[in-house]
Amino acid sequence: MKKRYWYGLNKETNPLGIGCWQIAGAHSINGKPNGWGNIEEKEALNILITAIKSGIDFFDTAQGYNEGRSEKLLGKAIKQTSESIVVCTKIVLTDDEVKQQNLSYGFSERVNESLRRLGTDRLDILLIHNPPDNINWKEFNKSKLIELQKEGKIGTFGVSTRGLSAAKNVVEAKFGTVLEWVFNIFERRPVDVLFPLIEQQKFNFIARSPLSRGLINPKYLITKPEFGKDDFRSTLPLDWVEWTLDSLRKLNANGIAPTEIVKIATQYCLQYNAVTSAIIGVRTIKQVEEILKINASINNDEQFKSNPLEGIATCFPKWA
Ligand SMILES: NC(=O)c1ccc[n+]([C@@H]2O[C@H](COP(=O)([O-])OP(=O)(O)OC[C@H]3O[C@@H](n4cnc5c(N)ncnc54)[C@H](OP(=O)(O)O)[C@@H]3O)[C@@H](O)[C@H]2O)c1
Repeated sequence: MKKRYWYGLNKETNPLGIGCWQIAGAHSINGKPNGWGNIEEKEALNILITAIKSGIDFFDTAQGYNEGRSEKLLGKAIKQTSESIVVCTKIVLTDDEVKQQNLSYGFSERVNESLRRLGTDRLDILLIHNPPDNINWKEFNKSKLIELQKEGKIGTFGVSTRGLSAAKNVVEAKFGTVLEWVFNIFERRPVDVLFPLIEQQKFNFIARSPLSRGLINPKYLITKPEFGKDDFRSTLPLDWVEWTLDSLRKLNANGIAPTEIVKIATQYCLQYNAVTSAIIGVRTIKQVEEILKINASINNDEQFKSNPLEGIATCFPKWA
């Protein structure tokens, strides 16, 4: 599949990328699990190195993924490979930065920490991570980010928001050039709410949760998900999990074969030109191998098979 262009970065990557939250290992925030369970360093490095050597060239990580462990592992994988990749990392704002609508001196220190962990002198993409939804990005002072760009420490910047209207606000305010938000076969609101604006403003969009937290998985047509205590998914709202699984069953009832579900969900995200990268989170080497197979089969497709994709849009009402 044709590479996609990153505005503001002047680089191109394959549209299918990898999310590195899953390889961060078990950790918690305020006593609540914030990771996806334990993973040995050897396994995590095997995942990253296999992906890089096989042509995956976009990786999303964050300082908040187990206090930088995910960044450190990605840094080690980069050191052990020679391929060129694009890395996006994220930094959380302090309460004071939110209040002042400005970035402090400490923010530059946090950027330096990411640079050290990733073993690089430049962060391609730096995103503000999960800031409060009520920030007005037109008012927020971005001069420090522009300064960091001039110093060559970051390529471009943007925000990964929690809510949809906050996401829209980022693009409308032209805060940098990158927005990261949820997009998958069941969460399709970005198609109407974000994509026209994104294309118009020449923004980049990173589609996160393309497998809806791993619930878009044929195994859940026959078994109920059971998440360990150290997997943050054990804290997901049960009604949302049930809604997602019900949607998965409808998809299957509408003729989509279980073996095709992950591929179709991936294709669904990538059919939109507004999506610069869809980042799948992987936890095992087997999942990477499956993702690589999907990537190769999409590459070989002359065009997307329209039937199942149109089917998705008619199967479900839009998420309210
Ligand atoms: N606010 C933010 O900025 C934010 C929030 C969320 C995510 N993210 C980013 O987005 C990335 C991905 O989104 P996500 O974390 O919501 O998860 P996701 O990509 O929707 O789902 C990840 C899960 O999908 C399953 N999976 C992976 N490969 C598979 C395959 N080949 N076949 C079947 N299932 C497969 C795995 O589930 P099992 O573990 O059950 O095997 C994996 O843990 C994260 O890694 C992170 O980089 C950012």
